[in-house]
Amino acid sequence: MTEMILHLVFLSIALLDAAVGYRPVIIIHGLFDGPKQFTNLASFISQTHPGTNVTTVDLYDDMASLKPLWDQVKGFKAAVGQMMENATDGVHLICFSQGGLVCRGVLATIPKHNVHSLIFLSSPLAGQYGDTSYFKYFFPKYIKTKIYHLCYTLFGQKISICNFWNDPHQRERYLKTNNYLALLNGEREHPNLTQWRKRFVSIKKLVLIGGPDDGVITPWQSSFYGFYDSNETVVEMKAEDVSLSTNLLEHSNQIVLSYEHKPDLAVYLY
Ligand SMILES: *[C@@H]1O[C@H](CO)[C@@H](O)[C@H](O)[C@H]1NC(C)=O
Ligand SMILES: *[C@@H]1O[C@H](CO)[C@@H](O)[C@H](O)[C@H]1NC(C)=O
Ligand SMILES: *[C@@H]1O[C@H](CO)[C@@H](O)[C@H](O)[C@H]1NC(C)=O
Ligand SMILES: *[C@@H]1O[C@H](CO)[C@@H](O)[C@H](O)[C@H]1NC(C)=O
Repeated sequence: MTEMILHLVFLSIALLDAAVGYRPVIIIHGLFDGPKQFTNLASFISQTHPGTNVTTVDLYDDMASLKPLWDQVKGFKAAVGQMMENATDGVHLICFSQGGLVCRGVLATIPKHNVHSLIFLSSPLAGQYGDTSYFKYFFPKYIKTKIYHLCYTLFGQKISICNFWNDPHQRERYLKTNNYLALLNGEREHPNLTQWRKRFVSIKKLVLIGGPDDGVITPWQSSFYGFYDSNETVVEMKAEDVSLSTNLLEHSNQIVLSYEHKPDLAVYLY
């Protein structure tokens, strides 16, 4: 993680806590990692905000991060739920990469949450379509155009990566077989959607961090809810795109701002 990212995370937390003291910070790790990879970020936060309780949830680490995302949501929900109960003034949630999708599942389905700031750090929020190094490691023999053969099956949906594999050339199959992202995004209708959205948007502030140097998330704009159309042209998140779980409005290439009833939504781009 670059200094820049640390700085941005620091900034978003610092701004929020100026008036109220330091809320506990909960970190949800990403694919093939765990608490070890976040000791720097955690100590950075504790150093700059002495007394802050920073916890990286020690669940589904390393290879176990390939478990189906709904399973992971169950585990993380229990852990995070207990921490939130203890935090009367709410918590901040930092969700890294795949962890962002876990966080979305948790916040949609947890009965009650008190997340103040939700920070998505390089999360493939609109999915992934690119065989970058991480994916090569797991799918060495596949090229991206073929991964759907594996992912868009009942078996494939038992692998976390497939839960957010979004092949723009296989839209129909994605909508039919994906049992995670398509539901969270409301791309496939289901009766729980309204309730999921309501829960999610009760956060106070959303911070999206991503950028072209990402190297893993493809397209990198996925960390801002943007994604490829069927010609692999990136389509940025649109205000009218009600299929997203948030009502985010997009502006310019620098800052994406606003969010229904939540004028303080900030998106940082580096
Ligand atoms: C909640 O607070 C109690 C009392 O301070 C503590 O013993 C317990 O470990 C905390 N639980 C969690 C999950 O933070
Ligand atoms: C920090 O938070 C964790 C998880 O909620 C909890 O188990 C622990 O007791 C807390 N530590 C302090 C010093 O409050
Ligand atoms: C909707 O919620 C109910 C009750 O929580 C649950 O049993 C059901 O599996 C959910 N449906 C979906 C598509 O998640
Ligand atoms: C993709 O490109 C073709 C040929 O240039 C064009 O006809 C089509 O409208 C494009 N599709 C989208 C979704 O932009």
